[in-house]
Amino acid sequence: MRAITIEKNGDERVLRLTELPQPSPGPGEVRIRVVASAVNRADLMQARGLYPPPAGAPETLGLECAGAIAELGAGVDGFAVGDRVMALLAGGGYAEEAIVHAGSLISVPDDLPLEQAAALPEVFLTVFLNVFQLGGLAEGGTALVHGGGSGIGTAAIQLIRCAGAMSVVTAGSDEKCAQCLELGADVAVNYRSGDFVEAVSKHTSGRGADVVLDSIGAKYFEKNLASLALGGRLVLIGLMGGAQSEINLGLLLTRRLQVIGSTLRARPVAEKAAIVRGFVDRFGEALREGRIRPIIDRTLPLADAMEAHRVLQASEHFGKVVLVT
Ligand SMILES: NC(=O)c1ccc[n+]([C@@H]2O[C@H](COP(=O)([O-])OP(=O)(O)OC[C@H]3O[C@@H](n4cnc5c(N)ncnc54)[C@H](OP(=O)(O)O)[C@@H]3O)[C@@H](O)[C@H]2O)c1
Repeated sequence: MRAITIEKNGDERVLRLTELPQPSPGPGEVRIRVVASAVNRADLMQARGLYPPPAGAPETLGLECAGAIAELGAGVDGFAVGDRVMALLAGGGYAEEAIVHAGSLISVPDDLPLEQAAALPEVFLTVFLNVFQLGGLAEGGTALVHGGGSGIGTAAIQLIRCAGAMSVVTAGSDEKCAQCLELGADVAVNYRSGDFVEAVSKHTSGRGADVVLDSIGAKYFEKNLASLALGGRLVLIGLMGGAQSEINLGLLLTRRLQVIGSTLRARPVAEKAAIVRGFVDRFGEALREGRIRPIIDRTLPLADAMEAHRVLQASEHFGKVVLVT
């Protein structure tokens, strides 16, 4: 099968289209004939050697895919060969065939093309886990989400709206802010010219956000804490703005704030299966009815993975970049 591998650590120029042996599913796993995969910021970090795959995961890039089940491993119930599925992967999505535990599969609604479905699992499940399960965002609450135009941001805007809550998002241009508002964000702040702490305060009449979904880290840490309501939760999922910070712990204590660090990829298959079930229970109907959809910026052939990584690195995209096999 054809797959994208990393020749050595570096930027997008280290990606290679390679011929690899077809993988076989173990017990509880399925083999998917991949129609499409999608690019995540984590793939760029992996190519640079900054985010190694967890033990047992393929070295090949790709955290999600969609396609048809081609083979069932021993003991798989509830799925059949030929089923249209999307999958959350620990790696190996940038390929013509992928192996995944059946608990990480989601059935693709009939009217959702596989090329779009491929862009759903990683970002929608990450947002579900961190904003709702860990962050506890409730109906009527407000979340601050950084990078509203990212894969994560475009999923967050939709799930938050669907849950009857409000989002304040940040983005790096007025154009991306306008796109976020059109998608359903309540407030969008251009972080190059505006102040998101002020925007959250204004939107919540001084109360603050219940949840902050943050992928920036150190650079925004203090301002994120200042954006939170009494008892608010800051969920840290990325460190694009650095990892080292100093804070006044008194602020956490007196305002009863929580700071939660979270990754999805390295979790055991049973935990991922529980997250998938939780997502389908809560948002499955919205997905089937087309009320939530991955936002696709562009679709490229698998062989153009280099260009796809370049686009993400330059933040030229709004939503997701898809790779079709
Ligand atoms: N922990 C987990 O389990 C997990 C899972 C998935 C993703 N993540 C993390 O979530 C983040 C987003 O992932 P992705 O794949 O959706 O990435 P992506 O599509 O590449 O988006 C990154 C976004 O960050 C924005 N950005 C850059 N600097 C910013 C700043 N100072 N303030 C606000 N926004 C800024 C960029 O947009 P502008 O043009 O607006 O600057 C860009 O849209 C990454 O850090 C990724 O590692 C974590």
